[in-house]
Amino acid sequence: GGVTTIDPGYKNTGSCVSGITFLDGEKGILRYRGYSIEELAEKADFLEVAYLLIFGDLPTTAELDKFHADIKKHAVVDDDVKKILDAFPKSAHPMGVLSSLTSALTAFNPSSVNVESEEEMYNAIVRILGKFPILVAWTMRKKLGLPLYYGDSSLGYVENILKMMFKQPNEDKYTQNPILVNALDKLLILHADHEQNCSTSTVRIVGSSHAGLFASLSAGISALWGPLHGGANQAVLEMLEAIKEDGGDTKKYMGKAKDKADPFRLMGFGHRVYKNFDPRAKIIKVAADEVLGDLGVQDPILDIAKGLEKEALEDQYFVDRKLYPNVDFYSGIIYRAMGIPVDMFTVMFALGRLPGWIAQWREMRLRKEPIGRPRQVYIGENERAFKAIADR
Ligand code: CMC
Repeated sequence: GGVTTIDPGYKNTGSCVSGITFLDGEKGILRYRGYSIEELAEKADFLEVAYLLIFGDLPTTAELDKFHADIKKHAVVDDDVKKILDAFPKSAHPMGVLSSLTSALTAFNPSSVNVESEEEMYNAIVRILGKFPILVAWTMRKKLGLPLYYGDSSLGYVENILKMMFKQPNEDKYTQNPILVNALDKLLILHADHEQNCSTSTVRIVGSSHAGLFASLSAGISALWGPLHGGANQAVLEMLEAIKEDGGDTKKYMGKAKDKADPFRLMGFGHRVYKNFDPRAKIIKVAADEVLGDLGVQDPILDIAKGLEKEALEDQYFVDRKLYPNVDFYSGIIYRAMGIPVDMFTVMFALGRLPGWIAQWREMRLRKEPIGRPRQVYIGENERAFKAIADR
């Protein structure tokens, strides 16, 4: 028999059991493998958090060194991938480029991993962790017309990402700003996993057909692209810019957000699960102040953001619906201060979410979960007799 009840948007449907991320949206709690996001953002680095998410425990120094060394061995992509990148116009949206390049990796690497083999699983994981930052950096360099650059294996994982993104061709000595390294590390940690969100559910459902890891990740990137999900960080900045251009009248935009006849939504506000302050937004807000302060950046956009936040937190419409600023309300302000183009922001989110997607894919395969295949309630026509084309 068919099903009789549906749950549009799976608002109240659990799709799996998971031991990776704990989230209490009422209380505003987020933990990876039992560790609070506040403590991880403060004390760990992104690679440690990636290891924690994927393998379940914080690494020892030896484990982390081996993990990093294995990732570095794979920090290279086939030359033909460059040709694929070259074929895109400069104007292509970086998320489309990233998703395509990730999918293209399946052509240069074995697509199916024998998940019974811990070694094969591990190799697939370090391979993508090595190659993905190159795809991210190259996507940006292509956009900016910079020559492709492979990075510097003597650097830390996140340090190297920044160098791969920003190294100029005519620079003899590249100097890294530790404030930016620290801020990026934090941003990536905060984005690293968020249980069964839209992109993660996509990775799991694609992977549940036993499609390869890279193909599953590429699908996750597409899901993340949308403005209701990861694309919100780009949308927030564009919204703040528009408000600034329009004279900085935040009240006008608050009005538009509350007007049901107006499709405008306050981007960076509200969350499917958090009905309280997004704990990541709290950490990021402080980081945004620090980064802009340390860099001496005066950004009028930050003032508009703060104004909007204050008004929304006091507004009955937002209070009634429990709409609080989410992680992406402030992340774009930091990315902008770092000099990252606005349409690259969601790519940075993908970079951060990569370990979470991998961890969730691995857990799903190790638990031998069945293929994802929801049901429906049919509301179409009843049985009809076929009509010849001349009679229609
Ligand atoms: N501005 C104005 N009204 C809003 C907003 C907003 N940003 N978000 C929700 N509402 C209203 C919505 O109109 C509805 O009102 P009513 O009950 O009167 O019809 C009510 O609040 C509940 O909203 P919903 O759309 O049913 O909630 P949802 O769980 O389906 O959507 C959301 C969650 C995040 C898609 C939504 O809040 C939204 O569109 N926010 C803006 C986009 C955004 O910032 N997304 C990033 C999410 S965090 C990063 C990530 O993890 O991807």
